[in-house]
Amino acid sequence: MCGIVGYVGDREAVEFLLEGLSKLEYRGYDSAGIAVYDGSVVRVEKSVGRLASLKEKIEDDMPKGCLGIGHTRWATHGRPSDRNAHPHTDCTGEFVVVHNGIIENYLALKEELIEQGHAFKSETDTEVVAHLLEAVYHGDFEAAVREVLRRIEGSYSLVFMSKKHPDRLICTKKDNPLVIGLGDGENFIASDIPAIIQRTRRTFILNDGEIAVVRKDSVDIMDRQGDPVTKKVFEVNWNAEAAEKGGYEHFMLKEIHEQPKAVRDTMSQRISKDGKEIVLEELKWTPEFLNSFNKIYIVACGTAYHAGLVGKFYIEKLARVMVEVDLASEFRYRNPIVDENTLLIVVSQSGETSDTLAALKESRRLGAKTLALTNVVGSSIAREADQVLYTWAGPEIAVASTKAYTTQLILFFMLALYMAEIKGTQTPERVRELIDLLKKIPAQISETLSDVEPIKTFARKYGFNEDVFYIGRSLDYDVALEGSLKLKEISYIHAEAYAAGELKHGTLALIVEGVPVIALATQKSVYEKTLSNIKEVKARDAVVIGIAAEGDEELQKYVDHVIKVPETDELLIPLLTVVPLQLLAYFAAITRGCDVDKPRNLAKSVTVE
Ligand code: AGP
Repeated sequence: MCGIVGYVGDREAVEFLLEGLSKLEYRGYDSAGIAVYDGSVVRVEKSVGRLASLKEKIEDDMPKGCLGIGHTRWATHGRPSDRNAHPHTDCTGEFVVVHNGIIENYLALKEELIEQGHAFKSETDTEVVAHLLEAVYHGDFEAAVREVLRRIEGSYSLVFMSKKHPDRLICTKKDNPLVIGLGDGENFIASDIPAIIQRTRRTFILNDGEIAVVRKDSVDIMDRQGDPVTKKVFEVNWNAEAAEKGGYEHFMLKEIHEQPKAVRDTMSQRISKDGKEIVLEELKWTPEFLNSFNKIYIVACGTAYHAGLVGKFYIEKLARVMVEVDLASEFRYRNPIVDENTLLIVVSQSGETSDTLAALKESRRLGAKTLALTNVVGSSIAREADQVLYTWAGPEIAVASTKAYTTQLILFFMLALYMAEIKGTQTPERVRELIDLLKKIPAQISETLSDVEPIKTFARKYGFNEDVFYIGRSLDYDVALEGSLKLKEISYIHAEAYAAGELKHGTLALIVEGVPVIALATQKSVYEKTLSNIKEVKARDAVVIGIAAEGDEELQKYVDHVIKVPETDELLIPLLTVVPLQLLAYFAAITRGCDVDKPRNLAKSVTVE
């Protein structure tokens, strides 16, 4: 996610641009920039780092002019740097663009434009759009923008500015948000409502494919063919704080609901066009090299460690390669058996967790090759590892990790399938079948999110218990670990996850009347065994909430409540079963009046030992 702003009116554009970007920093904050037209030139100012660095850079010589655009970046293509910061211009500096999203065919377009003589200054996908606009412009700004939109593929919200047409900005969107704030003799453009809510509450919310030509006293909206579109004014009644959370009460709930898009974005570009195979272009190792490792470690902390447990299962099940998973804080001091034949995979949402970074550095010192799965482009772990696969979850603000976890699972699944393709351990038919199921996951997560009321009820009913147990076998156990961490860290309830088969080896002593037990029973291969464990805890009068797949009519006979998730392959169902557990933790924390986004004693990124 990135933050975009635009201004056209009679006041100094820079005032709104900086104010609007400061309200959007939660969408991305690794670099920022603005472009302002002063009547003769377009002045572009950018800076790596937070918005404060840009403000410091221009405070003694603010750009002048009443037409401008701005951007605060969450890097996807091209690491955070001045050069890669937006806005981006064409060769002449007469066309300027800011962008949120991913231009999926930018490499092909870039090659074509370079052949035509265009000189690029950055590594970004966005700069291609500015040069493409220059290439197709023949005097009609709107027509040129429509042609650009015919040529690019991907997801985007875009704002275009041209000194040849200084009375207007043009903006459009596809799969990313964009709003137009309607002022009096001035108009505003922004990725999100928080940026404009101080200036106006009257807005146009653009729909995918719509193009808006924004002047200071008019907004003309059209479709891709240039035909006019009539739009109703949307009056924003949110308060400023709620607006930052997209109308959700907390960032955690917003991020839980962002999971379908985060998972879709992480998958996009990594499935071949014919849907028959996984393509990991960013992985610069040859298949033979990836095949050459005789040991694989997955090392991480917290939720990332829980994702690593699922990753182990995927790689062993699909690629038939042995994997060891370890906590980074243990691994780094265990004098691990690592050499040049070892592959170390580190997982980290922030890319800054000190234990994980230290384990990575230690393994590299011992000769291992290293692969990072992280959500932050240019993070310390991303820079230290030999290779990086990014989750495209966008900034995760809440301390409790949710969309990072599900995108890490997706990435592990695609890596395991990619390795299976190389090793031939899965038939092409099975690979195709799993890819088809993979593509359905975003919609199935949405379906799981569509009715949260039962989970809210459970949370209210059991949210005051001081002990909760999570049980499951196989992948259900791995997800149970993640569910119990969610509940612990934001509701402060003492929750423990146990392999269901372990209960009789001690934990069953703690199961007494009324103790809530969340029992995950989606893994068909061990279903009967799990059922017998559920009967064990029911026999001690526990209150059991079962998590089952849609078609399961058996489980409800043995538990007090059942939460169903859509049917899919048992390898992929963890992406769905974790969602009710995230929501259960969220609503339990609300019930107990806890600070959901900033739980006590915890930080979003643990950059100390
Ligand atoms: C997860 O909800 C926690 N906030 C925490 O366990 C987190 O997953 C852990 O600190 C690892 O963080 P990272 O993914 O940024 O490395």
